[in-house]
Amino acid sequence: GQPPLVDPFGRSIRYLRVSVTDRCDFRCVYCMAEEMTFLPKAEVLSLEELERLCGAFIQTGVRKLRLTGGEPLVRRGIMELIRRLGRHLDSGSLDELTLTTNGSQLAKYAAELYAAGVRRVNVSLDTLDPDRFQAITRWGKLAPVLDGIRAAKEAGLSVKINCVALRGVNDGEVHDLVAWCGREGHDLTFIEVMPLGDMDSGDAGGANQGDTVRADQYWPLSMLRAELAKRWTLTDLPISTGGPARYARVAETGGRVGFITPMTHNFCESCNRVRLTCTGMLYMCLGQDDAADLRAVMRGAPGDDDALLAAIKEAIARKPKGHDFIIDRRQKAPAVARHMSVTGG
Ligand code: GTP
Ligand code: 5AD
Ligand code: SF4
Repeated sequence: GQPPLVDPFGRSIRYLRVSVTDRCDFRCVYCMAEEMTFLPKAEVLSLEELERLCGAFIQTGVRKLRLTGGEPLVRRGIMELIRRLGRHLDSGSLDELTLTTNGSQLAKYAAELYAAGVRRVNVSLDTLDPDRFQAITRWGKLAPVLDGIRAAKEAGLSVKINCVALRGVNDGEVHDLVAWCGREGHDLTFIEVMPLGDMDSGDAGGANQGDTVRADQYWPLSMLRAELAKRWTLTDLPISTGGPARYARVAETGGRVGFITPMTHNFCESCNRVRLTCTGMLYMCLGQDDAADLRAVMRGAPGDDDALLAAIKEAIARKPKGHDFIIDRRQKAPAVARHMSVTGG
């Protein structure tokens, strides 16, 4: 296959995350502001433009595509895009096509996703308690998400549950989540909350109020892991799914639990990914503001693949070394002003 683009720090770029819409049917407190105005249609890439951009990245050696949002499955026509992208799996030019979703539409789409070549989905689920779920998502309903997860499994998709660790909110539930995922056969990753966007996370779970809420909710995963160790036997696994999680086997369930630790254990040195927003901005790092406007290149020179490939190469050549996130109660401003929903994590 195609050799990958390599950044200034020797990292091969094999993984593209694509936000296909800024819209979401939920408003998770750590991801979006309660009042979000959505982008006018002219600014958002058409499905054809998204397909063309993904094709260009595959030409540069990208082997893994993850669609994100907002919520990817609320984008109109999304299944047609996924089917078209799936052809790169058939031709052998792509290893994996996958999604990170809130699960609300999965019951409707699971079978079609499988038919298009998707084999794995990551579903964001921070709690199994309906009231807490509603507090975190601001108005989301838990039951359709659980139905969606079940439908995904029945359709043959592997499921990874993403759980953002939030002290004072879902910290009492981590054992239940491990047990539930073990029973249901899902991988589970815990994630340290990152300081992007609006740092006032409202009153999710009721425990925290005020203007440094996100900082108060930050729970280092070393502490979460120590809590898990009271009840479960964890053995580190030497595997990777291509993302930043480090996995352990849970002896009692036979399942896998992963830890994504941007705050306490920076994994930037092994970073293999870049992110495209639904307006065609390419972010070389989740934790930095620099981005390349690929929409301008594409709309400025329609049909000119060389211009697009050159712009992608130029952008990768300035990928920064990594983020410099900190979470500090005295620091009111986020490390990055953009909300997580712009890049879909
Ligand atoms: P797998 O393919 O299953 O390994 O997925 P993934 O972990 O790459 O993707 P997912 O969308 O499930 O992301 C899980 C969490 O990891 C989200 O909170 C992301 O923001 C975070 N994450 C993924 N990649 C990066 C990264 O490059 N830097 C940082 N800081 N966080 C990341
Ligand atoms: N910090 C950590 N993870 C986040 N996510 C969204 N916002 C944040 C944040 N501020 C997670 C979502 C989803 C994934 C793509 O990113 O829960 O699972
Ligand atoms: Fe890569 Fe930036 Fe994430 Fe670090 S913070 S792993 S460099 S995207």
